[in-house]
Amino acid sequence: MDLQLTGKRALVTGSSSGIGAAIAELLAQEGCAVVVTGRNVERTNKVAEHIRAGGSDVVAVVGDLATDDGAEQVADAAIETFGGVDILVNNAGGGSEVENPSWFTTELSAWIETYQKNVMAAGRLIHRLTPGMKDQGWGRIIQIGSMAGTVPTSAQPDYAAAKAAMLAMSLGLSKALKGTGVTVNTVTPGMINTEGLRDFLATFAAKRGWDDIEQAADYIVKGTGQTVLRIGQPEDVAHAVAYLASPVADFVNGVNIHMDGGGTANIY
Ligand SMILES: NC(=O)c1ccc[n+]([C@@H]2O[C@H](COP(=O)([O-])OP(=O)(O)OC[C@H]3O[C@@H](n4cnc5c(N)ncnc54)[C@H](OP(=O)(O)O)[C@@H]3O)[C@@H](O)[C@H]2O)c1
Repeated sequence: MDLQLTGKRALVTGSSSGIGAAIAELLAQEGCAVVVTGRNVERTNKVAEHIRAGGSDVVAVVGDLATDDGAEQVADAAIETFGGVDILVNNAGGGSEVENPSWFTTELSAWIETYQKNVMAAGRLIHRLTPGMKDQGWGRIIQIGSMAGTVPTSAQPDYAAAKAAMLAMSLGLSKALKGTGVTVNTVTPGMINTEGLRDFLATFAAKRGWDDIEQAADYIVKGTGQTVLRIGQPEDVAHAVAYLASPVADFVNGVNIHMDGGGTANIY
């Protein structure tokens, strides 16, 4: 299937590593000009160079999206380089740096930090880039959620609240953009094979005296509601994003696609 993405201009936040890097690479392979962005200069440049080596149009922009200035810098660079942004993927973020984050160890300052890098990072870019999408009568906003946003555990309260807020933003904005040609959707990853997950699995395995993170992965996957018995790959999430970014998904708006191996499948 031709996703008709050739010539589209995509800004993928948090594309200096993990899921964001896979999304940027796939959109580039599908013909988009891509803005790769993160805070770490070396990682951001490395992903952009890899994409450029594949023959795609790409620019690396470094900025902290947890700040107004950083977000402005990233948006300005994207607009200056490609003349506008058609596809905004709000993927940057993640949990706080708190070790074993519980309701009772997560300081309020960590809540604010998590909110800034997830919710406000997305909000800042939506504010800056949506008017251009409305003017041209076409655009895509895709937010990366988390199972924590719909099925929170007893831990990571700040992260669950931030990801739930992003879900509310997506649906509300999709309604606010009614009839404009700009759609807003969420992709919710389950357990995805990134550096962060591998660190978590290593700790989980070590606590049980296992020397193999595969054993930890297998144990966790079988203990969840997953019906596809493997850890997800960043490409699994990227495939859903590419579909939602495509003109062929014109009739899809305000949805939340779970890329979680069936882990949160439900009927309600
Ligand atoms: N991996 C999973 O299993 C999983 C599951 C559910 C949801 N998610 C979500 O998927 C998204 C990507 O996660 P990942 O696992 O791929 O994590 P990752 O490898 O740690 O990537 C996070 C990305 O966000 C960027 N970032 C973080 N804070 C930022 C800030 N203040 N300003 C600008 N960029 C910032 C990082 O940039 P630098 O490193 O350059 O600073 C990096 O590119 C996150 O929103 C996460 O919550 C992941």
